Amino acid sequence: MRKALVAGNWKMNGSMASNRELLSALKEAIPGSDAVDVAVCPPAVYLPDVRAQLQGGSIAVGGQDCSDETSGAYTGEIAAGMLKEIGCEYVIVGHSERRARQREDSDWVARKFIAAQAAGLVPILCVGEQLADREAGQTEAVVAEQLDAVLDQAGVAAFERGVVAYEPVWAIGTGLTATPEQAAEVHRFIRDRVAARDSSVAGGLRILYGGSVKADNAAGLFALPDIDGGLIGGASLDAGSFVAIVNAAG
Ligand code: G3H
Repeated sequence: MRKALVAGNWKMNGSMASNRELLSALKEAIPGSDAVDVAVCPPAVYLPDVRAQLQGGSIAVGGQDCSDETSGAYTGEIAAGMLKEIGCEYVIVGHSERRARQREDSDWVARKFIAAQAAGLVPILCVGEQLADREAGQTEAVVAEQLDAVLDQAGVAAFERGVVAYEPVWAIGTGLTATPEQAAEVHRFIRDRVAARDSSVAGGLRILYGGSVKADNAAGLFALPDIDGGLIGGASLDAGSFVAIVNAAG
């Protein structure tokens, strides 16, 4: 039985004041649960403050990205070990916004995944196709390439301590959500692809859905057999919405 995970990716949003307000509402409304793990991923500069506010509670903290290197002359980058040191449990790697804006390719993302695990973090590997890929019937090929890079470099056993998030790029921040059928199809494809290497690892792997998940569509998505929670962008900035999504997963 896989435990659901709902992670809020705050992206480049928030301030010290708004974070405190949001976190105090979340702490009050989200008790620990055997059914769902909850995490928030604020911008890196806020991580220590967010971590301090969540200390002793049930909500974990994650980074939005990490370097593939451990230390050195990499201006602006943050090592996975630094995230671990300040109390992070998770880190997102390969988000489509970084694949597009920072031109992160799948090999690079795989190295980040490996660096995150080496530091003791649980990487949340994002995969997903662009609208043009879907229209060209290339969804599975794109997702396979992104997944295989990590399977090949890290080995399938690494997915025992990793999470995959399927995020169709055309559904991110657009209000368009994949239909439950579309999401279920790709989630099944991901699990089968991991199972082809190791069925037991695949059976335990948490595969999240991300892309315009809201309070009113979360339950329908999370009810599907291969969807084990969500990676939530916009709706994670609103306490009421995020709590409703967490409740839909638990
Ligand atoms: O990481 C989160 C995803 O990019 C989804 O963002 O919920 O705003 O569509 P969204």
